[in-house]
Amino acid sequence: MGKVHVFDHPLIQHKLSYIRDEQTGTKEFRELVDEVGMLMAYEVTRDLELQDVEIQTPVTKMTAKRLAGKKIAVVPILRAGLGMTDGVLKLIPAARVGHIGLYRDPETLQPVEYFAKLPQDIEERDFIVVDPMLATGGSAIEAINSLKKRGALKIRFMCLIAAPEGVELLKEAHPDVDIYIAGLDEKLNDHGYIVPGLGDAGDRLFGTK
Ligand code: URA
Repeated sequence: MGKVHVFDHPLIQHKLSYIRDEQTGTKEFRELVDEVGMLMAYEVTRDLELQDVEIQTPVTKMTAKRLAGKKIAVVPILRAGLGMTDGVLKLIPAARVGHIGLYRDPETLQPVEYFAKLPQDIEERDFIVVDPMLATGGSAIEAINSLKKRGALKIRFMCLIAAPEGVELLKEAHPDVDIYIAGLDEKLNDHGYIVPGLGDAGDRLFGTK
């Protein structure tokens, strides 16, 4: 069963308070989302496998630990997921980056994939799907469906802010996926916004309205 991890790290909570604040402008918002993405990546990768390697320090030989070579791919859900991607790549610079684009069908209100470009060796990679807002859960569920359909075996999902409704639906749809959240909020409002949330993550990242 996948676990839900809610971060209580003071640096993450501090930065998240500025991200939420409507007074925070585009430049600062972008920088803060990037920084929190990086801090979260530190925890999200906590269970990566290590292997022993023999090295020579200036003093002696020793058996040290290195990552076991399992390959990582980061997959932002377009467009807001792009804001967290560089932060993750600062800690895992060799990771591949896949992209998934989804729009909401105006009639069914269901997310529909309009773009997917992923690394070739899907079965061999661990995936980290990133999207700042886990609201209804629809996009996250569909993006993970899309990865699984193409053969992905190990997937983690990380977001800045989640609504309890979205967390429940994502857990139900993908019980094998660990979910990483910087702030777990109260609810969704009638317009599908997370309350208290931060507004529209894509618009705030890219300065659009
Ligand atoms: N997407 C956003 O950008 N913000 C929300 O509050 C919900 C979904």
